[in-house]
Amino acid sequence: MAERHTTEVEWGALAGAAKAASANAHCPYSRFPVGAAVLAFDGSIAAGCNVENASYGLTMCAERNAIFRAVADGARAIVALALYTPTPKPVTPCGACLQVIAEFGRDARIRCVCASGEYDEYAFGELMPHGFALPAE
Ligand code: THU
Repeated sequence: MAERHTTEVEWGALAGAAKAASANAHCPYSRFPVGAAVLAFDGSIAAGCNVENASYGLTMCAERNAIFRAVADGARAIVALALYTPTPKPVTPCGACLQVIAEFGRDARIRCVCASGEYDEYAFGELMPHGFALPAE
């Protein structure tokens, strides 16, 4: 099968996957479930939720879990990421997640969706215009 090069984003499907993933969040400490879903360049979708830990600092955000799952499944370039939070207003990804998105999706579109149905959409560069990258040799 020819490799698929996805540039069109079916936001309904991606946001739906993010919301569905939030139902699996392990968040007994914050009680703040989050879901994320990424669309890779090959058309595949990978979702993740936040997974907290009793030692608190080991908590992993939904966005990074979604990206790590996509990469583990063989994806590299990320076209889009949907973030779902059960809030009245949209929430943006944390700085650590933005740096991880930078590794795979500097051109990605990011849509932050919430319980009210309201959403904000950004180009990755609007959220992290100066993310770290190793300097060229
Ligand atoms: N969290 C995410 O999963 N993504 C974000 O962008 C912000 C915060 C999680 C981490 C923690 O489990 C809970 O939300 C409260 O901070």
